[in-house]
Amino acid sequence: MFSRKMSFCTALSFVVILLVGSQVAVAQNGAEEKEQSLYNRLGGLAPISVVVSDFINALVADDVINSNPAVDAARKRVPAPYLKYHVTAMVCQATGGPCQYHGRGMKESHAHLNITEQEWDRSVTIFKEVLAKHKVPAKETQELLDIIDSTKADIVVAGSGE
Ligand code: HEM
Repeated sequence: MFSRKMSFCTALSFVVILLVGSQVAVAQNGAEEKEQSLYNRLGGLAPISVVVSDFINALVADDVINSNPAVDAARKRVPAPYLKYHVTAMVCQATGGPCQYHGRGMKESHAHLNITEQEWDRSVTIFKEVLAKHKVPAKETQELLDIIDSTKADIVVAGSGE
């Protein structure tokens, strides 16, 4: 009787341990999923800085973008490495990384450039090409495009017909 009671208690302890263990595993899995920020999924600061660098290089060399005289003048005055630094910090922060963006606001830094819808669309096309070149997966590409799109209202001031 005593040993049957013991074995029942032992079995019960196993069940309790298994249940608690599985709860912990579930909690840990949930936490791991949460920790996968876009920043981590992109591979962190090094790949982000390479993508931003390629994007700025393509942007400052693009004929459609440079047909805007205000952008062309600013591009010649503002060093590309300065833009790369700020845009990298901004993307790092916006994707959940450890950086802090300390540049000017998007409205303030683009208002004088008279950026049109057409120039905006061109910059999005260039950005997509750079992401494709670096084989950024579709989900992460869309999340990055959503981040970029959230800045559009502050950057585009002129309609395509103007
Ligand atoms: C058609 C698209 C765009 C063009 C032609 C453009 C061009 C420029 C130019 C010429 C400057 C320097 C302005 C100056 O100091 O006089 C600038 C600044 C900046 N741009 Fe853009 N930009 C575009 C879109 C974007 C987007 C989508 C982002 C970020 C998501 C961005 C982030 C920045 C940042 C962080 C700065 C520096 C702000 C500062 O000086 O503190 N730009 N941009």
